[in-house]
Amino acid sequence: MPLPEPVPCHGTALVIGAGGGLGAAVAARLRDQACHAQVLALGRHTAPALDFLQADSFEPAARWVDAACGAAQAPLRTLVVATGLLHADGRGPERSWDALDADWLTRVFRVNAIGPALAVRHFLPLLARRGRVRAGFLSARVGSIGDNALGGWYGYRASKAALNQIVRTAAIELRRRNPEAVCVALHPGTVDTGLSRPFAKAGLRVRTAEVAAGELLRVLDGLDASSTGGFYAYDGRPLPW
Ligand SMILES: NC(=O)c1ccc[n+]([C@@H]2O[C@H](COP(=O)([O-])OP(=O)(O)OC[C@H]3O[C@@H](n4cnc5c(N)ncnc54)[C@H](OP(=O)(O)O)[C@@H]3O)[C@@H](O)[C@H]2O)c1
Repeated sequence: MPLPEPVPCHGTALVIGAGGGLGAAVAARLRDQACHAQVLALGRHTAPALDFLQADSFEPAARWVDAACGAAQAPLRTLVVATGLLHADGRGPERSWDALDADWLTRVFRVNAIGPALAVRHFLPLLARRGRVRAGFLSARVGSIGDNALGGWYGYRASKAALNQIVRTAAIELRRRNPEAVCVALHPGTVDTGLSRPFAKAGLRVRTAEVAAGELLRVLDGLDASSTGGFYAYDGRPLPW
């Protein structure tokens, strides 16, 4: 599907999870496009830091974004949340119900669903109340319940399904504040990053983070308000819930 070129919006763009493979590429792409007045980046290693496992890190981070938008007289118009957890510290996605573990499930849900929910609470109210506004939350096709034919990966799948519901719910609330707003869940496809590397199988179509970032931003840019609350793949196709 042909997608339009980026629309200049002169506001601020914010990338959360900007230290990750896709987050860094999205931030770099937004800077290259130069269609925002500034591109802000937040992550566990920025100043201020934003760590989804530290609930008290949200407020200072949101204050910093608000102040930066005010100083540049560039309201927040684009938000990309590119955080996610599939494996860490020798733990990874469950192949079978035998592997279900409360601590790991809690951690996966905190990063993949609760953290983005708190990002909704702290950052969506900062989006401009008038004009073009976009929020994209990186989800995953495996979070689709309708598309689940293979099983496995309980925690990752379920936390991404929860994320999708949170994004849909937030989109409805955001639309009441700004009827032009677009707020969607995005599937980036299989991308060569630290998250996917241990699971990359021969024959799978793996793209670079740079290519994927360009595709994701073109999808986000090309959607209109009638698409808000949806779940879209990197090629612009809607995905089943
Ligand atoms: N790569 C793929 O093939 C693929 C496929 C489908 C969906 N996705 C989704 O795409 C998104 C980006 O993934 P990626 O491939 O770029 O993975 P990645 O390189 O591992 O990046 C993961 C990001 O999540 C952040 N993060 C992890 N734990 C966090 C925490 N406690 N608090 C705040 N941030 C935390 C990391 O922050 P730090 O920079 O601070 O480490 C990093 O920015 C994720 O939502 C992922 O589920 C990726």
